Amino acid sequence: MYKQIGILTGGGDAPGLNAVIRAVVKTAVGEFGMKCIGIEDSFEGILGETHTVKLNRKAVSGILPRGGTILGTRNRGSFVKMVDGICVFPEMPIEEALENLEKLEIEALIVIGGEGTLAIADQFRLKGFPVIGVPKTIDNDLSATELTFGFMTAIDIATEALDRLHTTAASHDRVMILEVMGRNTGWIALHAGLAGSADVILIPEIPFSFDSMVAKIRQREKSGSLFTNIVVAEGASEVGTQPIYMDKEALRLGGVGSHLRRRIEAETGKESRCVVLGHLQRGGSPNAFDRMLGTNFGACAVRALANGQTGKMVALKAGEVITVPLAEAITNIKTVSVDGQLVRTARDIGISFAAPNESKL
Ligand code: F6P
Repeated sequence: MYKQIGILTGGGDAPGLNAVIRAVVKTAVGEFGMKCIGIEDSFEGILGETHTVKLNRKAVSGILPRGGTILGTRNRGSFVKMVDGICVFPEMPIEEALENLEKLEIEALIVIGGEGTLAIADQFRLKGFPVIGVPKTIDNDLSATELTFGFMTAIDIATEALDRLHTTAASHDRVMILEVMGRNTGWIALHAGLAGSADVILIPEIPFSFDSMVAKIRQREKSGSLFTNIVVAEGASEVGTQPIYMDKEALRLGGVGSHLRRRIEAETGKESRCVVLGHLQRGGSPNAFDRMLGTNFGACAVRALANGQTGKMVALKAGEVITVPLAEAITNIKTVSVDGQLVRTARDIGISFAAPNESKL
């Protein structure tokens, strides 16, 4: 049994990070008698002049409903860099980190993060250091788990935004566009679009045709619905074009909503507005589901370490938390199936994805 383990959070923050930290500490300390050290600001905390914090029950008291992460996080730094607009893992300072872990008497790590953070965690596994990953991202784009914590809260927020935009759209007979996050996948847009009654859902997995979208707006007009609600994933793009970046160098997606707003107004003459939901989807308190999932992931991660597992990630499968190899967890991005049930259901109830051949589907 390990005497002392370390825990860190990496990548973008997501609702539920503190729930995981709390569960890890409570389980490690209470159930297995291990000590817990929080590593601050992702892996940066174990480089140079290390910055860490002792975590006991008192330190995690009251953090379950809190957004963000009490440990701080980074989605850039010594381990991940942008070079010419490409995300690269430079010569990682793993040896320095390992030396510092030894000095700090940390014998194993629990790493909470998305694809990039877990890829770094896997490097520690390759060096023989015990590590267990916990999947986090509002994008829900990790293939080895059915759900990541943070996603359900993001959908709640996006759904509420759509509900609110609906009333303005209907009152003013406008086209309202909500741009949501999700990187190169459309999970948030698809789920929130269904829950928030969007008329058009644009996702990266189904390149859209501008003409199809305009046809949908006109068809609604003809049938007496003088407004249209569109939810667009930040990574969605028109057939034959690339996604729009607000910062190409830093690979920050954004801008497709305003781009569409201008074109729709010019083409249809209808007043149109765009709202970019942005980081509101990541901030603030996790919903009940993400608190529960984060807690379950955290406790299971400690149990996996205590049982001698390493190089694994906890994952949700058919309602149960299992462990899968870290290496497997970081190889494939989970994308929306274009002929999957949710897309089919959306089409069945008249939602358009503005595909070029939409009317024939
Ligand atoms: O991966 C989470 C996410 O919020 C994506 O949906 C989004 O594209 C990106 O992070 C934004 O990152 P940043 O916080 O660096 O702007």
